[in-house]
Amino acid sequence: MTQESQAPPEAGGPASPAAGPAAGGGAPPAGAGPPIPAAGAGAGSGAIEIRGASKSFPHPDGSEVPALSRVNLSVGAGEFITLIGPSGCGKSTLLRLIAGLERATSGSLFLDGRPIEGPGAERGLVFQNPYLFPWLNIHGNVAFGIKARRRWREEKGLVGQYLELVGLGRFGKVFPHHLSGGMAQRASLARALINRPLVLLLDEPLGALDAFTRMNMQDEILRIREEKRVTMIMVTHDVDEAIYLSDRIVVMTAGPGRVETVIPVPFARPRARNIPDFLRLRGKILEILNFAGRLEEPAYQI
Ligand SMILES: Nc1ncnc2c1ncn2[C@@H]1O[C@H](COP(=O)(O)OP(=O)(O)OP(=O)(O)O)[C@@H](O)[C@H]1O
Ligand SMILES: [Mg+2]
Repeated sequence: MTQESQAPPEAGGPASPAAGPAAGGGAPPAGAGPPIPAAGAGAGSGAIEIRGASKSFPHPDGSEVPALSRVNLSVGAGEFITLIGPSGCGKSTLLRLIAGLERATSGSLFLDGRPIEGPGAERGLVFQNPYLFPWLNIHGNVAFGIKARRRWREEKGLVGQYLELVGLGRFGKVFPHHLSGGMAQRASLARALINRPLVLLLDEPLGALDAFTRMNMQDEILRIREEKRVTMIMVTHDVDEAIYLSDRIVVMTAGPGRVETVIPVPFARPRARNIPDFLRLRGKILEILNFAGRLEEPAYQI
């Protein structure tokens, strides 16, 4: 049996009409105030500028491990960018720099022209593992950001709306261990989005899902982006996923991690995965990554 856990008495109640203009999409509320400013909302538009960012980590032997080298990248407000590249090329490190969880060793990063100097609610993070709090039901998990910002009274109605947004409207009382992988990832998206970030940073969010759930979730992410107009920067190892989702693909290479090339995806949405242009672009990216393979024999006949 499930029950509301650690939620205030109002939790699970009907959505409040006073929940704020973010309800139902569009711009977040303008007056999300102290003590922690609500994300999004009038704070800017979600453009990211990365100038010459390098990052090294200390190695136990006293040397430095260069994780990222002189990365330059401009991401427009509302743009969908994917980062793709081999393991260890610095994709997660780059997301963590944008999130403000790490500081660049040299170079600088900006959000809407302001230097990024630490974490902020205007940048939401979603990981491969949903990291839901197991002792809270889904409603409690999604409500977490509102309570952390001490805006429960004003924004509690948003919880139901964000659960609806990700298709979990009926699952607020369910606990994380009862959810499928796809549902858990939806909950974690709602938990990030309820803070109305200007930028959503997604580190292989679909990497643990089976192929069909993954394709469904790709459509969900596009739908949410369409509704919320949030800038998205997503790490993936899946070339098809990168082409299906993004406006531009940032191809990274390792040793040390750097941006090899940035490829615009010129196809209108919705996209078809099986058209020749899609497959040609796929081949080009695999070639850049040296994963295109090689035919010893004449081409296959199918
Ligand atoms: N906190 C840390 N301390 C030391 N080294 C680190 C730290 N974080 C990352 N690194 C190193 O930085 C490099 C880049 O790591 P990062 O996790 O960004 O790669 P990635 O592209 O996300 O890889 P993957 O695809 O496997 O997730 C690696 O060599 C890694 O060992
Ligand atoms: Mg990573």
